[in-house]
Amino acid sequence: MIPFAAEPEDILRELAALRSADAPTHGGEVLSFVYDSGLAAVDELAAAAMAAVQPLNGLDPTTFPSIAAMERDVTGFLRTLLGGGDDVVGSVTSGGTESCMLAVKTARENFHRAGKPGTPRLLAPASVHAAFHKAAHYFGLTLDLVPVDGEGRADAAGMAAAMGQDVALVVVSAPSYPHAVLDPVEEIARAAQDRGIDCHVDACIGGLVLPFWDGLPEWDLRVPGVTSISADLHKYGYAPKGASVLLTRGRDRQRGQFFATTSWPGYPVVNATLLGSKSAAPLAAAWAIIKLLGTAGFAELAASCRRSTEAILDTAAGIEGLRVVGTPTGPLLAVACDGSVAADRRIDPHHWADSLKSHGFTAQLQPAFTQRDGSVLPRTTHLTITPVTESRLPELTGAMVLAADAVRGVPGVDPQQLLGAGEGPVAELLASAAAIPRTSETARQVLGALGLDGGGLPGAMAPVLALVEALPGDVAAWLLTELLATVTEPPL
Ligand SMILES: Cc1ncc(COP(=O)(O)O)c(C=O)c1O
Repeated sequence: MIPFAAEPEDILRELAALRSADAPTHGGEVLSFVYDSGLAAVDELAAAAMAAVQPLNGLDPTTFPSIAAMERDVTGFLRTLLGGGDDVVGSVTSGGTESCMLAVKTARENFHRAGKPGTPRLLAPASVHAAFHKAAHYFGLTLDLVPVDGEGRADAAGMAAAMGQDVALVVVSAPSYPHAVLDPVEEIARAAQDRGIDCHVDACIGGLVLPFWDGLPEWDLRVPGVTSISADLHKYGYAPKGASVLLTRGRDRQRGQFFATTSWPGYPVVNATLLGSKSAAPLAAAWAIIKLLGTAGFAELAASCRRSTEAILDTAAGIEGLRVVGTPTGPLLAVACDGSVAADRRIDPHHWADSLKSHGFTAQLQPAFTQRDGSVLPRTTHLTITPVTESRLPELTGAMVLAADAVRGVPGVDPQQLLGAGEGPVAELLASAAAIPRTSETARQVLGALGLDGGGLPGAMAPVLALVEALPGDVAAWLLTELLATVTEPPL
């Protein structure tokens, strides 16, 4: 008899107490990160399906054929939904980032297999998700980001002009995360196909909702030049985190996704995805939800998202001092300051987000971004709309207006002023950003001087984002790494 260190009920009570500090995952108050169908039956079924496969190891679907069967069903469902034929095959991965990374890895393998010389290049609009920055970094590709216009729209001609023989993969988004832009998939994929280059559609966020968004140009596997597509089950598939699909056109092309080796004394390793041993729980949950909802259920939920998105767009358009960026496609949008009105009527989108939070809704702050041609995309606030939003529409739209009224005319945090206000290490950092040793200790000093060493993030996020805008990218990444690393470190 093993003596337990604590009673299970006490442990679960402690977990519940810890969970009470979390942002709400249900109810529509958090407008990013979580995708709430608003249907308790979906979550209950997902939990039961996860429990049913809890002990399995997704490392080997031949030992656990239930995993292979569920994966066949899920990839088959997505293939039909996204317009793929029999030549399209794929995998369930742990999330959008893994799907994107594997699309890049696949393209890199095929680039080398084709005997192409040199370092492969990954070509994308600057609005592409950061997962592709990570993929290029991990897999050794040069990242070539073509500037987008002020509304976040990709430059199809500029993309085509940049398609040289060293390009292993062209990536487009359906839609992009920052501004919800549906990239011109047909035009860019055709240009890539004409040059024999693979083209990936990142539909991580749109893949299970845009198929039900009428009136769009073609953007999925129906476009002949599209060679792969990613769609996240843990976004608009309403599955718990840890599930996405990557589909690839052509078995030979897709085999580049795998890693296989017998060159060690252990079991032969054959991995379709990045992990070795892995949970089958998110797959089982996603599989069960697909069976529960079917195409018609997903269509209904998308229709709800669309109604809510239109209402929110109308509200945002009616708020003096704020503007919607571009013409969003799908259930997400970004708002920016409307520079066309008098300064005392303008609304800084980050102050607005902080104020919205005090009215019960959490939106996501996005920093201003300088592209390589020097053009600057404005700071914005991002909202992701899910089916549950419809039940909260009056409160949300009301809060949007109240938040706007509270901060109209308040100037945005000036990044340079913020840095200038720092003492000691900050001044030193400014004077000699390159010379300061990039250690955990100096990072803590700088964060301390900026008032950011209090464990976690402060209540108001506008100053933090202004800091991100002010600092060189590598310095911001260094400090944010420290900030996040310390959050999960055991106490001293
Ligand atoms: C377009 C797009 N691609 C990739 C990702 C990365 O997905 P994940 O956070 O699941 O890794 C996201 C996440 O929001 C996304 O919107």
